[in-house]
Amino acid sequence: MVKVAILGYGTVGSGVFEVLNTNSASIAKRVGEEVQVKYVLDLREFPGDPVEPVLVHDYEVIVNDPEVDIVVETMGGVNPAYPFSKRALEAGKSVCTSNKELVARHGTELMKIAKEKSINYMFEASCGGGIPIIRPINSSLTADEIDEITGILNGTTNYILSKMSSDGSDFADVLKEAQEKGYAEKNPEADVEGYDPCRKIAILSSLAYEQFVDYQDIYTEGITKITATDIKYAKEMGAAVKLLATSRKTEQGIYAMVSPVMIASTHPLYSVNDVFNAIFVHGNMLGDAMFYGSGAGKLPTASAVAGDVVDIAKNLHHTVMMGWKEEKLELLPISQVTSRFFVRVQGVVADVLPAVEAAFGKVETISLPGVEGEFAFVTETMTEEAYKAAAEKVDGIISMIRARF
Ligand code: HSE
Repeated sequence: MVKVAILGYGTVGSGVFEVLNTNSASIAKRVGEEVQVKYVLDLREFPGDPVEPVLVHDYEVIVNDPEVDIVVETMGGVNPAYPFSKRALEAGKSVCTSNKELVARHGTELMKIAKEKSINYMFEASCGGGIPIIRPINSSLTADEIDEITGILNGTTNYILSKMSSDGSDFADVLKEAQEKGYAEKNPEADVEGYDPCRKIAILSSLAYEQFVDYQDIYTEGITKITATDIKYAKEMGAAVKLLATSRKTEQGIYAMVSPVMIASTHPLYSVNDVFNAIFVHGNMLGDAMFYGSGAGKLPTASAVAGDVVDIAKNLHHTVMMGWKEEKLELLPISQVTSRFFVRVQGVVADVLPAVEAAFGKVETISLPGVEGEFAFVTETMTEEAYKAAAEKVDGIISMIRARF
């Protein structure tokens, strides 16, 4: 029998407990022996809950029990999730987690310990919740050279942007409503500022490009400055604004960034709305592939964690190899990254366009019916550095969103 301990009985931890209990018969068949939750660690009491018989409050009970083979870390955050995970691995217990913050920060070290001990550190649920994406990158696309990963990797911001688009509302109003309905966290900073998708694209890129991508090196911009008027312009152009987390191989090097992007209706990610996530992968042999589904939520995330438990149970004394290496990948500086730019500027086209074109070269202009005193334009493809230099020469720029048309 394989014995499991779950750290944290919150949304995901209680989901993993439920999945492992509900599907225990089919899981036992797949593993070849029973998988049993021996302990659940949480500081709280849960009177009347099925977890009661296995609930413990002291981590030492788990780490010192030689019967525990697998530790499921669903605490979130870095402390004490990091020391607990490290100690479990050092004690010869495999670990799986949904904790993207921990994987992005300490994944390299934790995987190294797992390899030294011939055990596993797995994290399928850390990116895209219930969408299988780590395993496909790690084991299915191994004959391909992946040259792009672009994802909608955050459900909260995708919900907010979708709602702003369907209702014509402003960011602050939709965020407030989303918080009232429990779709957005009380402290939504990690989501709306893009830190959460930044960690996820760092993890996916580390696997895809087989070198460690430090999330701290990734240029990250959230959605807090996106307005209802920006979205009106996008609609006028048949486009949508999405928070994209991208990493791409170019001739100059690999870059990674998180930012709102205007995408055309022909882009595969255009129709990904509400809380859904999707990850678009391009491989040199594969061409395009897209992974779509529930990027968050109790049971989808728990299902991915439980999938890791099964994989680990089948590989108890053998490390399933991951492409992610210790060597750090030096990303291309953001100044050298190219894209088109959607820019709003004060004034009327006839007066301002000459100055705009003197700075940016030929641009397409867009005016919105009913919106006076401003218009927008879309540049040709240029580097971020060239955009900055040109923007300094034009007075009255209101805002800029990168565009992929
Ligand atoms: N806050 C995250 C999201 C949860 O909204 O996608 C899943 O990682």
